[in-house]
Amino acid sequence: MPAVMPFRAEIDLVGCEVDGRVPDELNGAFYRVGPDFQYPPKFPENIPFDGEGHVSMFRFSAGRVDLKSRYVRTQRFKLQRRAGRALFGMYRNPFTDDAGLENVSRGTANTTVVYHAGRLLVLKEDSPPVAMDALTLDTTDDYVTFDGKLTSQTFTAHPKFDPETGEMIAFGYEAKGLGSDDVAIITIDRAGNLIRESWIKVPYVGMLHDFAVTQSHIAFLAIPMAFNLEQMQAGGVHFAWDSTLPSWFGVMRRHGDGSDLRWYKGPERCATHVMGAWSDGDRCYVDMDMARKNQFPFFPNLHGEPFDPAGAAGVVTRLSVDLAKKSDTYDMQALYPDNGVLPRQDDRYQTIPYRYGFMPTVDLSVPPHPAVAGRPFRPNNCYTKFDHATARTQTYRAGDTVALQECCFVPRRPDAPEGDGYILGMAEQLLECSRSDLLILDTADLEAGPIATVRLPFRIFGQIHGWWVPADALPGA
Ligand SMILES: [Fe+2]
Repeated sequence: MPAVMPFRAEIDLVGCEVDGRVPDELNGAFYRVGPDFQYPPKFPENIPFDGEGHVSMFRFSAGRVDLKSRYVRTQRFKLQRRAGRALFGMYRNPFTDDAGLENVSRGTANTTVVYHAGRLLVLKEDSPPVAMDALTLDTTDDYVTFDGKLTSQTFTAHPKFDPETGEMIAFGYEAKGLGSDDVAIITIDRAGNLIRESWIKVPYVGMLHDFAVTQSHIAFLAIPMAFNLEQMQAGGVHFAWDSTLPSWFGVMRRHGDGSDLRWYKGPERCATHVMGAWSDGDRCYVDMDMARKNQFPFFPNLHGEPFDPAGAAGVVTRLSVDLAKKSDTYDMQALYPDNGVLPRQDDRYQTIPYRYGFMPTVDLSVPPHPAVAGRPFRPNNCYTKFDHATARTQTYRAGDTVALQECCFVPRRPDAPEGDGYILGMAEQLLECSRSDLLILDTADLEAGPIATVRLPFRIFGQIHGWWVPADALPGA
């Protein structure tokens, strides 16, 4: 049995039970996606990240909430359904697959769901996007190539959206095949056409989960979560943490061809998600959830070090470089003491200077509840709003029997000021067999707790990332 219990059921729940009142202005759909093993994994030691993508949609309208969920019909899902069992082996390791699957996409579409140019795209960083109908959640394209123009074999789960041009900017790593040091940088225009693909190289091949895009720069952080062929050939997962490697912060001009890319060295660090990023002349700033050590207990430490929960604690850290200066290293500054992961921002401020961020955090002031004993991490039990203008935070504390997933910001109105609106986030009730609630909080007073709670009568699959689409952008609006 995998460490995380699969859910496996597709849901149509009409008229969810709600405590409190859902604001009428919250009108649209909250999509979320996470890994959910379609069948018992081929190898019991496989990791939760390898479950098949399962998308849920909370449709909000006039205070009412309906829930629908569907597995993404990836190439892999369809073949496995025909076989009635798992055919693909360990996480991102084709050496462990059944024979004859070499020409099938291994992509699980389990990491992020975004909406661009009228299409719902479900993303996993080892493969091209998969498209779903935004209302029915039927899979409409199991291998999106943007009319054949995408030559990269991979596409990040963290594209960025330029509020001024409407462009979606993405990248793919290991983009020319397993273990390749090639990274493609991809620009899709507001109509959904791929208009540019440029190429760079990385200092070493490893997990390149997220990146930063500003109005004038593109930045990457390479971390020591390194591709490990030997481990894969021995039947293991794709990555191992090599603590002897430095981190590298790479910055290039956004509208160039990548030939001006410069890599700045830093110490061993782990950071996987960007809260926000902007440029000020020649300076480029990127805020990330950064830790000193490997943050993933299921990716082994190459040199045998035990997993270090204290070293894995992430804090919001500002990385920066001044491209006009001669320097071989990047600057970093921890901004707040709060521990957490999976930062988000008001997505209308991607690529431009921003003030507010949001992140699930851990309340270390109370001892862990016995219900979470034995977990490598204490679950996040708070949502924190970060105000970079004042360096102050506001925190909602959910208590010690609740585990909170990533939160997603929704503006109160299309023209609301930055950070003014709601955050939505799933809560597992640990003393109720992890029954799930969707919490709705008002960012004007986060500490007051949820203004409404959508109570599900069951535990739903865990989420990696979620995305809000306002009603007027949905099909048929
Ligand atoms: Fe992510």
